[in-house]
Parts: sequence; structure tokens; C-alpha cells
Amino acid sequence: MNVFDQQDQVNHPRLETPTFQELIDATISRRQLLVASGAGLLAFLAGESAAKSPQLPKTPVGPVIGFKPIAANSLDTVTLPEGYQWQTLISWGDPILPGGTPFDKQTRGTAVSQSLAMGDNNDGMSFFSLGKDRGVMVVNNEYANYEYLFASGKCQSLEDTRKAQAAHGISVFEVRKVAGKWKLQAQTPLNRRLTANSEMRLSGPAAGSSLLKTAIDPTGTSVLGTFNNCANGQTPWGTYLTCEENFNGYFGSTDTLPDNAAFKRYGIAAKGAGYNWHPFDGRFDVSKNPNEPNRFGWVVEIDPMDPTSTPIKRTALGRFKHENAEVVVNTDGHVVVYMGDDEKGEHIYKFVSKQKFDSKNLANNRHLLDDGILYVARFNAAEGQSAGEGEWLELTHGKNGLTAQAGFQDQAEVLVYARLAATVVGATTMDRPEWIAAHPTFPQVFVTLTNNSDRGVKANQPLNGPNPRAKNIYGQIVRWSPHNGDHTSDKFTWDIFVLAGNPTKHQDAYRGSTNINPDNIFNSPDGLAFDRDGRLWIQTDGDYSNAKEFEGMGNNQMLCANPLTGDIKRFLVGPVACEITGIAFAPDQKTMFVGIQHPGERLIESHFPQGGDSVPRSSVISITRRDGGVIGT
Ligand code: FEO
Ligand code: CA
Ligand code: CA
Repeated sequence: MNVFDQQDQVNHPRLETPTFQELIDATISRRQLLVASGAGLLAFLAGESAAKSPQLPKTPVGPVIGFKPIAANSLDTVTLPEGYQWQTLISWGDPILPGGTPFDKQTRGTAVSQSLAMGDNNDGMSFFSLGKDRGVMVVNNEYANYEYLFASGKCQSLEDTRKAQAAHGISVFEVRKVAGKWKLQAQTPLNRRLTANSEMRLSGPAAGSSLLKTAIDPTGTSVLGTFNNCANGQTPWGTYLTCEENFNGYFGSTDTLPDNAAFKRYGIAAKGAGYNWHPFDGRFDVSKNPNEPNRFGWVVEIDPMDPTSTPIKRTALGRFKHENAEVVVNTDGHVVVYMGDDEKGEHIYKFVSKQKFDSKNLANNRHLLDDGILYVARFNAAEGQSAGEGEWLELTHGKNGLTAQAGFQDQAEVLVYARLAATVVGATTMDRPEWIAAHPTFPQVFVTLTNNSDRGVKANQPLNGPNPRAKNIYGQIVRWSPHNGDHTSDKFTWDIFVLAGNPTKHQDAYRGSTNINPDNIFNSPDGLAFDRDGRLWIQTDGDYSNAKEFEGMGNNQMLCANPLTGDIKRFLVGPVACEITGIAFAPDQKTMFVGIQHPGERLIESHFPQGGDSVPRSSVISITRRDGGVIGT
């Protein structure tokens, strides 16, 4: 079904015209008041922003969302709408390589068995087709749940460190459709594990920089491993992009840390975040290897069809806590990559390739991500407005104040310390940018801003247009349209698509925008992706207490939004103490793959997916319709 299909008009009316006044408590500030209305959304629906978004249809209808939405719950299983079913495709510890052994629920494996098996905490993933009934799945394994990985719950030796490192990285495995269901194919030639110790290459403008050189790599071009691989991207030339997020937490120091602005901004601390690799593996001891952290925080490109290929860290895309990498081929052929930096008060970035996409010879695109211009976003808004203009600020050495005097010796330094450069040029501080998703057929881009307890609290994070609520516990989704539909333009218009909230608890801005109601409430939007037809799938990583401010929201969930009408319906509820993250589709859109991350985290009782007295295990599930139809229709 095309996104502009008109047949669905009756079933999916536009949102009601402004419930602006109904929404507001007269006691809230003018800023909160204007923002709470979702004024941008409503203006858009009323056609006022049509001039700014010339390619949007006049009568927005959007894709069919045909399933019957489900209620929130706190069950230890996956709940789906009537007519849908799920099964487990793969779980943490399932062997995928020759020599692998079945998951051992007593020991939970060794360093060796883990290196031959699916990693922990699956996150972003992509499906690469090998024909009608065959494909390759590439899945990020973001981090490890030590409370289940180790009997002691702690990393206490080099063996433990190696096991934890092997639970991180990427799992690549073949899948085949058998009797209508996709199944894992263990021990096939394309299967691969990449871990925190796999050989990788650095390329692009920062490769070889003195900031990337270490004692074991005096060239600054060769690095071991990738970890904290959060979400992902998929290029039209058939490669996978994995995004290094909270890399800082793996580093620590056995000596006093140097007093260093970059360490502070990127969160490098003597104690680390508890992974405890640095006492056993000197590579992670910053007092011995101060440049090693600079070799992480990149987007890494992987060829899923060649298990002998060396993954490449693309420094042109900047170094920060990468969430995902949304790739768009602009109408003129330039490749644009949108990226969020997930930390309170950090930013949204865009890379524009110098060369153009070659659709005839895909191999010609292998260096596109090495050469181009990196930008960071500034969202402008008049006082109290929840829509406005924005601009992309270039992060190029010698421009916009990025000079030696400002502390940037060259372009390598701008890229390695992209966060510091973004501050110099005046980027807008955001409420933790998570995934970015571009509409498949019209030029509009959406970002989840998951939550931000520091908004309106810390001096560098005042309320602003797209981040309008202090101590933002619910999060929002903001969208922008590039000027003239041109993703390479340095101008855009933006508005708020949805402010998550709880209308049973609040009547002010924290009730949420008008497309939030007691039946579709959620908090902390995180995963975000469009399907082929333009349905917008929203996954949450939020508070699953189902109490107080979050009462009625249940476990983490997945919802489906119509990007044109703003209508949002709940599609899936996950098991106890999980996060829903990672989404991929088989090419016929009749199977959807969804990631169930960390069920039962922090020893909250869960036995997902196997039930009984089993250890909870992060898993990828496949979802189909009992009638074999297209998901979501
Ligand atoms: Fe790995 Fe920002 O989520
Ligand atoms: Ca995330
Ligand atoms: Ca999150």
C-alpha cells in the first residue's frame, strides 16, 4: 500500500483540530502551554506548513494501520494484536559457528563458547536478502548483563574479561524460510562473530592522526574490536553500519586520570561504568593507553557477504555516542547519513558525501563514507513555539570558529572531538537523540528524543523548541523537512510529532500532545523505523514500573504511527524488564524481526523466552500474521 493511498481515508481521519485549550492548565507557563499543544503538528495537519513541505500531499491520509491495538500489560511474554504470532529466532548464547555448544544455563558459557555464539543484548539489526527464502541477519550485541553472564555477577579475571568481550559486538548469521517461518542456520559459511577483539581498520580524515596512535598501533589506522554497538544503518550498496555508543564505560584507570576536557565531555572516568576490563586488559587502562578511547565512538561499516572482510571505522562521520545511522540517497545522488548522539544535552548530526551514489556498480560506493562534510543541527524557534526553522552547521576545520586558537589543530581533531566542535559552532542541546528514521518516499526525517532529567535543570540545557519540558521523563519525537526536499540543504523546518505523556496523571504539558490518549501511552521512545509503506514503528526503552508517573504504560512496547495523521496504536508489549530495540523486515514485509533486549535485567524475575525456570535471555523474535499477510496492514 502506497503512503499516499486514499482508500484508507475513512478509517484514518485526521486528528481533531486543536484541542489546544482543553490541553492546558492555565497555571503553566506560556512556553509550556504552547508546546503542550503540539502546535506544530496541528498546524501541519491544518495545512499551514504545506508551503514548507511542498511534497506532502494536501490531504494527508498515510498508510493503512489495520491491526486492532492492544492494551498495556506487565506479563512475562510478548503480546501481539489478534491474528499475529511470534516465535524466537535466536537468543543470547545460541551457537552460530562451528565448534559452538548449546547454551549452558548453569555456567552460561566460557570465553571460547561465547565467541562462537550469539552475543548478549541484541540491539539494532538488518536483514540482507539472498533470494526469496534466504537471508543474512546482522545483529548488534550492545552490552552484557553481568548478573546473568557470570555466576558471581562480576568480571573478576582475564577469562571473565574475554568472555564479556566476546558477548559484545556483532553476530552475523544466515536465516532460511522453512514452511513459512524464518529459521536460524547455524554453522553456515557467512556466519560470523565480531567482538571487542576483532581486527578493524580506521579510515577517513582522522585515520593516522596522532590522536588515534597507540603503542601497539603506531600508524593510528588499525584497531581491535567494536563494543556498545547500539543501533545501526543499512546502505543501498549492501553494507551494514554499526554504531558505537557508550564506549567510554569500558575504560578505566589504574592511576590518576589526566585533567582533560575531552575525557570529561565523553565521560571517560577512572572507575569506568562497572565493566571492569581495565584491571585485566591494559588496552582499557587509560593511564597506560590514553588514546585508546579515541578509537571508539565511530560508525563501523561491515560487509555481511564477506566473512573475511575487515570492518572499517568511518571517521568522517564523527566521534560521539552514536545511536543509529540513517542513510538516505538524496535526489541528486549524494548520500546523506543522519545520526544522533545519545546523551543528555548532546546533538544531532548529518554527513553529506562528496561523491554520488553509483547504482550501477555498487562496489564503487565502498568509499563514499570516507569523504564528505559533517554538520550538526541547530533548531531555531521563537519563544514558546513548538515548530520552526533550523540549520545545519558545518564542522569543517577553519570554518565556524573551528580553528587552532579554539583548540582544533586539524580536521582530525574536529572529528575525534566532534562534541566539542558542535558546541563551538552553536548546536542545539537535545533530549538524548536516539534513532533517526527517514520516510521512504517523501523528504521528512523523524528522531526519538528519549527523555532528559537534566532539561531545564543544568545551565547548558535550558528549555528550547524541540525540547520543551523540564525534567522530561516521557520523551518526544521531533521531525524535520529539508528545505525544498533536498537532504543536502543546510536549512530545514521542524515540528514536534508527538510529546509522550500520561493524560491520566497530568493536565499540563506532561499529559502529552493531542495524539496521546490513555490507550496508547508510552514513555521513552527509542527505536524508530519506517517500513516500506511508510508506517512508523516506535520502540520504547523506558520506565516499566507501571506505577506513579508511568501507571498504565506497562512493560516496554512497540507502537505504530501514521506519520501523516499522527495516529498512534500499540502493536506489541514485551516481557518483564526488557527493552524493545531492533527492527528488520523480510523483503515481502510478511515477517518482522524485533529485538527483545535484557528481559529480567537487574535480576527482576523473568524467564523469557523459554519459560519454566530458565535464565532470561535477550532474543530476536520473528512476527508473522496467521493469515500470511503484510505486517501492519
Ligand atoms: Fe543504546 Fe541510546 O541506546
Ligand atoms: Ca537505543
Ligand atoms: Ca534508550
